Amino acid sequence: MTVGIPKEIKNNESRVGMTPAGVFELVKNNHTVYVQSGAGEGSGFFNQDYQQAGATILDTIGQVYAMSDMIVKVKEPIAEEYSLIQEGQIVFTYFHFASSEALTKAMIKSKAICIAYETVEDEDGTLPLLTPMSEVAGRMAIQQGAKYLEKPVKGKGVLLGGVPGVSPGRVLVLGAGTVGIQAAKMAAGLGAQVTILDVNMKRLRYVNDIMPSHVVTGFSNEFNIRKHIKTNDLIIGGVLLKGAKAPNLITRDMLKEMHPGTVIVDVAVDQGGCVETTKPTTHEDPIYIIDDVVHYCVANMPGAVPYTSTVALTNVTLPYVLKLANLGWRSACKMDKSLEKGLNVVEGEIVYKEIAETFHLEPVLA
Ligand SMILES: NC(=O)c1ccc[n+]([C@@H]2O[C@H](COP(=O)([O-])OP(=O)(O)OC[C@H]3O[C@@H](n4cnc5c(N)ncnc54)[C@H](O)[C@@H]3O)[C@@H](O)[C@H]2O)c1
Repeated sequence: MTVGIPKEIKNNESRVGMTPAGVFELVKNNHTVYVQSGAGEGSGFFNQDYQQAGATILDTIGQVYAMSDMIVKVKEPIAEEYSLIQEGQIVFTYFHFASSEALTKAMIKSKAICIAYETVEDEDGTLPLLTPMSEVAGRMAIQQGAKYLEKPVKGKGVLLGGVPGVSPGRVLVLGAGTVGIQAAKMAAGLGAQVTILDVNMKRLRYVNDIMPSHVVTGFSNEFNIRKHIKTNDLIIGGVLLKGAKAPNLITRDMLKEMHPGTVIVDVAVDQGGCVETTKPTTHEDPIYIIDDVVHYCVANMPGAVPYTSTVALTNVTLPYVLKLANLGWRSACKMDKSLEKGLNVVEGEIVYKEIAETFHLEPVLA
């Protein structure tokens, strides 16, 4: 198979779909790998590193798409890339279809095989290709939240760890999944008082078992959320309904109940966000303010730490890339039920139930 690694062109995205180590494995399995010139530079991998691993460097993104049976990338294709995708081409990347009707329609039109990292699912319900980026984003959420709590950037002026004689800051985490737990862990490490809410009691029991006593758990419902937003300085949105739009847990009217300068980091922005007033932002212009509440809603948070993120991501994607390249998508998905769950749009049809429902369409069986 020919495998193409284009350079990411989304704003401030410096990750890349494959490291030289991945190229080496594919070439060892007799595949041809095309890497767009400079694709890995943002993550610290240079053309020469890829060439030494056995890749051929191509000058333009158009060449990479035109010459490859399978494209391996990081972010969902943006409008400029739609027309480059070919009928029957495998595109293996994050798509987050539920949050973009335009992307969904474009991929249906392309008749490509769209396999979404975020819906590849293991038997126990975990999402192995989302986990490492959620780990990065969860940890980063506290770093960013702490920064935007500072007064010069319109925050409340609270130091999360407090100091002797002054209480630490308070952090509310919505969702006790990967993002939520990593965020809670970082916030607790800084000395903040943390409350973590979820609807899944198993998750709450787990958090209760592993976290220090200044991380407390609670059930996520409107009553509790309304209570906690009044007293917390930093709110982290880390909920997920697999493949579907995130629920609006904080509605517009609730902002008025928060203290001016409260910061919301809505990590779930890539699934539409769990705050009604969330709209995607970029690393260049990461925040906006509504009703004196600072909103940080960067849809590709791990893009700011590309070295850590690229290596963490490709560690987990490579085994699937090898399967797809060695067996072709039909056999690979038949043999590997986790990978099969990644099929979202296939040859012009939506094959993932929740995405079809989001757009009021009937899913077609793959
Ligand atoms: N912005 C970014 O750069 C970025 C990076 C990585 C992940 N994400 C996103 O972060 C979100 C969370 O990812 P994750 O890996 O932690 O998911 P996860 O599945 O591990 O955890 C989600 C949690 O949300 C909980 N939940 C569901 N409904 C809830 C509700 N009403 N109230 C409270 N909790 C609820 C679930 O029970 C689960 O524990 C996803 O949307 C993911 O795409 C964004």
